[in-house]
Amino acid sequence: MTDPAEAATARPRDVSVWDPLLRLTHWSFPLLIPAMWWTAENSKWALHKRLGLVLLGVLAFRVLWGFLGPETARFSQFVKGPGAVLAYLRGDRSAGPAIGHSPLGGWSTIALIGAMLVQVSLGLFAGDPYDGMTGPLNSLVGVALADTITEVHETFFWVVAGLVGLHLAAITFYAVKGDDLLSPMVGGSRPPMAGVEGIGAMPWGRGLLAVALAAGLALWVTFGAPPLT
Ligand code: HEM
Repeated sequence: MTDPAEAATARPRDVSVWDPLLRLTHWSFPLLIPAMWWTAENSKWALHKRLGLVLLGVLAFRVLWGFLGPETARFSQFVKGPGAVLAYLRGDRSAGPAIGHSPLGGWSTIALIGAMLVQVSLGLFAGDPYDGMTGPLNSLVGVALADTITEVHETFFWVVAGLVGLHLAAITFYAVKGDDLLSPMVGGSRPPMAGVEGIGAMPWGRGLLAVALAAGLALWVTFGAPPLT
């Protein structure tokens, strides 16, 4: 008779792909981006500003996590040169890592994070001090420049929205092809793969450090980026 403990160890295990903090960061985006749009459309400026500062903290965390996080979160794992992207597009699956972002997905990640960072940064300087709400760094630029930044901030939202649309179209395209990217982004794991170990234990110490640094940056900006000395 087979020992149940032995049978359990013999059963292939799911492969851990995305860590909990990356997933939490990710799912905050579909909550925050529509909420930011809605608060702007309905002139709820105090809430818009607060959510924007939360988004700044989340994005700062994601950037730090790109250096401190597990392998699939790291920029060094998924930001590949044009050769790897072309090879991947030609169907060469060995052009990218076995788990995590493909060479193409890596660049879409950079585009999404980059566009959200641009949008949040513009918001920090936006607004008119003589007429309504201003971003926390508005006083660092003149009224005319802040006016231009506000206009770019309004228009640039559609760049973010366009990239999100492309992102959702890509996820749907892979789902139709039978490649389920969604479940790992929800539960963290994917079905077993021969010879692939997964990302291993969560580095909680580095996670806390990244959260503290990102929160510190967001708070500092909230107070208008006062001199640190
Ligand atoms: C405002 C909306 C969204 C934004 C800004 C966004 C942004 C991102 C970013 C930046 C990544 C890369 C993950 C990372 O390394 O940090 C990503 C991955 C992913 N997102 Fe989204 N996302 C959005 C909405 C959604 C929605 C609604 C879904 C599901 C229906 C989704 C499904 C996924 C999946 C499955 C991945 C993993 C892709 C892969 O395996 O390479 N996202 N998303």
